[in-house]
Amino acid sequence: MPVVKVENLYYAYPEGPPVLKGLDFQVEAGETLAVIGLSGSGKTTLCQCLCGLAPHVLGGSMRGRILIKGRASTEYRLPQLACEIGMVMQNPDMQLVCTTVEDEIAFAPENLCLPPREIRSRVNEVLGLLGLKDLCLKNPALLSGGQRQLLALGAVLALQPSILVLDEPMALLDEKGRCLVHEILLYLRDEGKTLIIVDHDIENINFADRFMVMEQGEIICLDSPAAVMADKEYLQQHRLYLELSGSTRF
Ligand SMILES: Nc1ncnc2c1ncn2[C@@H]1O[C@H](COP(=O)(O)OP(=O)(O)O)[C@@H](O)[C@H]1O
Ligand SMILES: [Mg+2]
Repeated sequence: MPVVKVENLYYAYPEGPPVLKGLDFQVEAGETLAVIGLSGSGKTTLCQCLCGLAPHVLGGSMRGRILIKGRASTEYRLPQLACEIGMVMQNPDMQLVCTTVEDEIAFAPENLCLPPREIRSRVNEVLGLLGLKDLCLKNPALLSGGQRQLLALGAVLALQPSILVLDEPMALLDEKGRCLVHEILLYLRDEGKTLIIVDHDIENINFADRFMVMEQGEIICLDSPAAVMADKEYLQQHRLYLELSGSTRF
């Protein structure tokens, strides 16, 4: 059974035109789906719909259905949905709210009223996984952009969702940070997590099982990485070649 099923999804921001125009796709349990496309093609909006931020928090109008583990996303309350599908935003500052790194990671599990011992154990596990132990008492505002990105991932991991949506998780990172996040993503994949990763650089997500290419709110291609990369003419035609040409694969 697919863990994410999107059926004829339309979404428009309040008083705006439709930004997602009839998306249909599904993601199997344990699969890694890479979402690529030019700036403005609707990748972030799709992420926000998948994790319920749109329309729950952002407003706007959504048509069609998103099924998370067989249940319509609109039937979940947001905290419940966050335990199934976690999102790391493009801009980590949008999701960091606490004054220390460890409080940030403990924040969501505390809101769920998990037992203190369980929270402590999750915080330690996440700090270890992300290499943030030495920074646990630091104010997130004083971290580098890359460290804040890692922390935003950590705060999401603390809820132990089986599906993760990552919106350009490596955008703010230097080479070392990118390698670390790459390693962490591989680890999470090997643990059986379902990953939906938005990225501009194909090198960052070359381990994906399938690539989904978006353009102007539509899916123009959904296929294996090899098939998507093979058709350079097609990529060029849709201006993806230019966008992705930073990758050494071209
Ligand atoms: N909060 C918003 N309100 C209105 N329009 C928005 C908002 N956020 C994004 N958009 C518009 O939605 C379209 C898709 O944007 P986005 O999902 O951010 O694309 P991408 O992540 O692929 O760059 C763009 O035309 C953008 O201007
Ligand atoms: Mg975006």
